[in-house]
Amino acid sequence: MRVVVAVSGGIAAYKACDVVSRLVKGGHEVRVVMTPAAAQFVAPLTFRALSGQSVSVNVDGDEGGAIGHVALARWAEALVIAPATASLMARLATGDARDMVTLVYMGFRGPVVMAPAMEPEMWSHPRTIANRIVLEQDGVWLVGPEEGRMASGYIGVGRMAEPETIVEALQDAVSPHDLAGRTLVVTAGATWEHFDPVRLLTNPSTGMMGVAVANQAARRGARTVLVAGPSVTLDTVHPHVEIRPVVSALDMLTEVRSAMHGADVLVGAAAVSDFRPEQVAEFKVHKPDIARDWAMAPNPDIIRTMATEYGGQKLMIGFAAETENPVEQAQKKRREKGLDAVLANLVGPGRGFGHGSHQAWLVTGEGVEELAGQTKAETAQRLVDWISERLRGR
Ligand code: C5P
Repeated sequence: MRVVVAVSGGIAAYKACDVVSRLVKGGHEVRVVMTPAAAQFVAPLTFRALSGQSVSVNVDGDEGGAIGHVALARWAEALVIAPATASLMARLATGDARDMVTLVYMGFRGPVVMAPAMEPEMWSHPRTIANRIVLEQDGVWLVGPEEGRMASGYIGVGRMAEPETIVEALQDAVSPHDLAGRTLVVTAGATWEHFDPVRLLTNPSTGMMGVAVANQAARRGARTVLVAGPSVTLDTVHPHVEIRPVVSALDMLTEVRSAMHGADVLVGAAAVSDFRPEQVAEFKVHKPDIARDWAMAPNPDIIRTMATEYGGQKLMIGFAAETENPVEQAQKKRREKGLDAVLANLVGPGRGFGHGSHQAWLVTGEGVEELAGQTKAETAQRLVDWISERLRGR
């Protein structure tokens, strides 16, 4: 994507370097425009080195062949304004186009992500609030500011969002909102089946795949409920996803059942324990007693239960994590559990659990699609595309 990063004059301007660097590493073409005040905080040369492109500061032309605001606004597919000072927000809100940043903003008609940064008093001032409302009505996608310690030493809301968060917000802003009005329930991670308060039966699933699906669905406008086992790293979850933490398979079934009212889709990415100890000791069991036989009870199959209860009214998507014959196993699971699709993937030493990429196949009623050498985020994107197509076809 072709992205213009617009920088205004605040101390957070140095963090815009990281935004540019992340965008470039993510494969985007980036051009930077700065207000003259921003150029007092960070030298244009820094952005030139990071983006590999000339940087525009002066309206009446810069050295080194920087392109003008009209051409830049036409070239851009997205605009990221970071940091946006109170003064810049006021100029943007009133259309006071006097510098490169405001000029590009006014000439551009695509998605705009803005990361304000200012002292807490300025952020909470009625004038800034009014300007913010105007900009939001214009369709600007706001990210932050966050609460924390300011450069002045004050603590409050006004710190610019982290570069990683700004890049994620850009992805949100440019994603199609094809799932708006839909609800997806996603299960993720391993479940814990306690023997006693300190010992449990579980597996190595980290829930990365389920989180990738939930994040993608939320990004595309779906109301998304993530029923997450204890192994899931919750700080990787998109802020618009509703998280329902659970421990055991029985808890997971209860939460899924309640979340499924009014939902359109269930994606069962959790690695649910097949069994649980029939009895859970109230206190820690001491060593001599550990070796005794523990009677095990089978856990309910959550996705099969839901597929039976909703019999074809909602989309049901399961996963098959296999060490061999993943496609055959997925076809069998799809049939036996009554699912619309099963995503098969290979797991084992060095692959699958806890790894960012994997080998996967999407097995549906229409056939088998190989998703070769994909990251889990790419696999999630393909799966959500498929869900979106199916929901539209209904
Ligand atoms: O039968 P298997 O565990 O291999 O099936 C995997 C699929 O079934 C996954 O989608 C998983 O989330 C789901 N599952 C479930 N409840 C269980 C076991 C598996 O929902 N008790």
